[in-house]
Amino acid sequence: MAKHHKKYKGILLAGGHGTRLYPVTKFSCKQLLPIYDKPLIYYALTLLLLAKIEEILIISTPTSLPVIEKVLGDGSQYGITLSYQVQAEPKGIAQAFLLAEEFLAGASCMMVLGDNIINKSDMSSFFKKAMQNNDGATIFGFPVRDPKRFGIVELDTDNKIVSVEEKPQNPKSNIAAIGLYLYDETVVEKAHRLTPTVRGELEITDLNNLYLQQNRLHCQTLSRGDFWVDAGTFDSMNDASNYIRLQQKYTNLAIGAPMEAAYSAGFITQEQMQKYT
Ligand code: G1P
Repeated sequence: MAKHHKKYKGILLAGGHGTRLYPVTKFSCKQLLPIYDKPLIYYALTLLLLAKIEEILIISTPTSLPVIEKVLGDGSQYGITLSYQVQAEPKGIAQAFLLAEEFLAGASCMMVLGDNIINKSDMSSFFKKAMQNNDGATIFGFPVRDPKRFGIVELDTDNKIVSVEEKPQNPKSNIAAIGLYLYDETVVEKAHRLTPTVRGELEITDLNNLYLQQNRLHCQTLSRGDFWVDAGTFDSMNDASNYIRLQQKYTNLAIGAPMEAAYSAGFITQEQMQKYT
């Protein structure tokens, strides 16, 4: 069986209270709301499986975490290990690395935000290359129409990062840093050096800037035809559902299917895959 990237561990951060989805998220877990025919969290989990990561920590709120655990279990159905960690209060994306300190135990990691949906062709080899080439940290860029809403990456003509700014008033580019990150083994030590913003949060962009100061932050911009959405609002969830429905219908390929990704990663056999799907 394929055993690539043994040294990378995965973090799936499914935090936040989903206030932009009230009243729906008052009584249901945001990560389990459907994006077309699957729970939202399946899409992020599938990315980690396509990256051939075998140990994944899922971080969520005290109310959502047990529900997510009920759905995903210990990961044995995917041939991997899933563990769970509560984020008691939403103290920022970068807090995930403090909560994951013991889990990571000095490993490099790929982190994905639970409400991000990405689709591109040949994802496994794209990730394999990015993981092999990662020196410090790698972020992934995608051009957007509303740059004030995201972390924004400014690149020079050699594709080197000039700046990364969180939700800038005057964006220096339209390239958003999507919710997918690769970090080396120094990530926990760097996260300890961060100070909270006025909102009391540890910003992922501040963490990325610590890598940038060392000239060890790199950006891979997704290609033309690739798809990315932060499905955190009713509007973007609806867009994502429509996109997934049409893609699946006309390509006959499933998107966000963890069982299939586990099979293609070599973690489970065809019989195991068919038993669950
Ligand atoms: C977060 C990050 C931001 C990134 C975005 C991607 O923002 O802080 O840098 O561009 O995720 O989804 P949030 O969605 O928490 O506002």
